[in-house]
Amino acid sequence: MNQEHESIVTQAISWIEESRRVVVFTGAGMSTESGLPTFRGQDGLWQGYHPQQLATAEAFERSPEVVRSWYRWRRDLVEKAQPHPGHLALANWCLHSNQNSCVITQNVDGLHQRSGCPDVIELHGSILHDRCHRCGHTSTDLDVITCRCGGGFRPAVVWFGERMPEPEMIRSQQVIDSCELLIVIGTSAVVHPAAGLIFRALDMGASVIEVNPDPVLPAPVVRILGTAIDVLPRIFRICSMEEDAGGPVAGANPDEEEGVQ
Ligand code: OAD
Repeated sequence: MNQEHESIVTQAISWIEESRRVVVFTGAGMSTESGLPTFRGQDGLWQGYHPQQLATAEAFERSPEVVRSWYRWRRDLVEKAQPHPGHLALANWCLHSNQNSCVITQNVDGLHQRSGCPDVIELHGSILHDRCHRCGHTSTDLDVITCRCGGGFRPAVVWFGERMPEPEMIRSQQVIDSCELLIVIGTSAVVHPAAGLIFRALDMGASVIEVNPDPVLPAPVVRILGTAIDVLPRIFRICSMEEDAGGPVAGANPDEEEGVQ
């Protein structure tokens, strides 16, 4: 890596160390090195599938089985996926940093929780359980497709055209408004209102760092060109080692996870 990259990484490390409240905001690029495809870009899901046919209430009402089977395929991928060293470094740092750190994610795969992050806000819901499309009742038994009310179960995610979950959105705005540093990882920042949180943080005067091999955010955002698996163990590991007198949490040392992908 060149000198400019190294000095940006060093700057990021000192911002992370010095900030009293740090918030992390993630998108699909966070999980792609765990084997889960992103949405946009060359190999993204929206290259092969049309969002209007799979990720809208209208699509579900028209062809529930088509929608369910696409989500079954995605759930299978998620179940086989493991958090990678970037997830683990972030979780370890969240657990030990004393910086009120919180992760806001657009991802529905639960990998932040599985890696041990203690405080995760799921803005777009979760693919790991269902919700009745009619009454909102939730279910973890994914084999049941009809609710007691007669409505159909669907993945408990937010589809295009649907409202964001209010408690998650309100809490996200609160933590964004009080953060000193926002670290944005692996998002194209085009889907609103989620992406608007990044610009809200900038408006509120927070410093913003973007981790992305193909960054999208404008200055004054500080861009670290690289992937989550390469960059996060570097920027979070050093901080957690200094602050964590007891050492990293079991299983969360990136060196122990070399085979994880
Ligand atoms: P996108 O697929 O739009 O963007 C993924 C971003 O991750 C791109 O900017 C990539 O450059 C970057 N990226 C790729 N590999 C990476 C890696 N290894 N490390 C870090 N970054 C990497 O995904 P999102 O921004 O999450 O919504 O998409 C936002 C929303 O659009 C999703 O939550 C989903 C989708 O439609 C719903 O389903 C409602």
